[in-house]
Amino acid sequence: MVTPAGNNEPNLVLLGGPGAGKGTQAEKLMEDRKIQHLATGDILRDEVDKGTELGLKAKKYMDEGELVPDELVVNMVEKRLTKQKGYLFDGFPRTIDQAKTLDELINLDLVAYIKIDKSEAVRRLAARRVCSECGKLYNTIFKPPETEGVCDECGGDLYQRDDDRPKVIRDRFETFLEETAPLIDFYREKGLLQEIDGEQEPEKVYREIKSVLQESTG
Ligand code: AP5
Repeated sequence: MVTPAGNNEPNLVLLGGPGAGKGTQAEKLMEDRKIQHLATGDILRDEVDKGTELGLKAKKYMDEGELVPDELVVNMVEKRLTKQKGYLFDGFPRTIDQAKTLDELINLDLVAYIKIDKSEAVRRLAARRVCSECGKLYNTIFKPPETEGVCDECGGDLYQRDDDRPKVIRDRFETFLEETAPLIDFYREKGLLQEIDGEQEPEKVYREIKSVLQESTG
């Protein structure tokens, strides 16, 4: 177990396939709560950009829409857990083994499963753009920036993720069904799972997440 720290914020997992809106909802939650965002995809992309040993190992899996091996990801997460409360896990855990390891490290309060179907995921992700400076998310269909290619918040250039190509998006979705979807029952049996309809307006999705979070933490 990691060192306890007096923080009353909940430990929450945002579970969902590619494009479900985990990052979008995490951005909103961070505006509301003093919670620490732990997004394994973001951390891995940062390692790839820096050309670290972990990044070099992870890149070939990410480019194919496959999961990075558990031991690499678990080790990366473990190093970042320094307290007992107040984490927002985004994209982790993604396998039963990762979930079992997380169970040994920390007590979760809620797993919000944001559900969307594959055609919606492909539509959203092909149109996703990300700020290269501050990481803010955009969408050329649903949430375009005021000036094309430029972040409204910081003026940084917007880019398209390497894995947001239609073939890789479909592979990521298959990987989700095979390796991550079993977590839905795993957490349901533990009484932690709340299912959210992810195909609503982002604000509505957020209201539902806030409401189930309120119920589960009092
Ligand atoms: P990761 O970065 O975690 O990608 P992902 O899970 O595929 O999720 P995304 O970031 O694509 O989608 P999201 O749900 O965050 O959606 P977003 O809010 O951006 O992982 C990438 C790779 O890293 C993996 O494939 C794997 O290789 C590796 N990896 C990461 N974690 C790992 C782990 N634990 N174990 C092993 N490997 C790991 O929204 C998408 C778009 O839709 C945006 O443009 C947004 O504006 C728009 N949008 C969002 N919500 C809505 C809405 N309600 N209506 C309309 N548009 C919306």
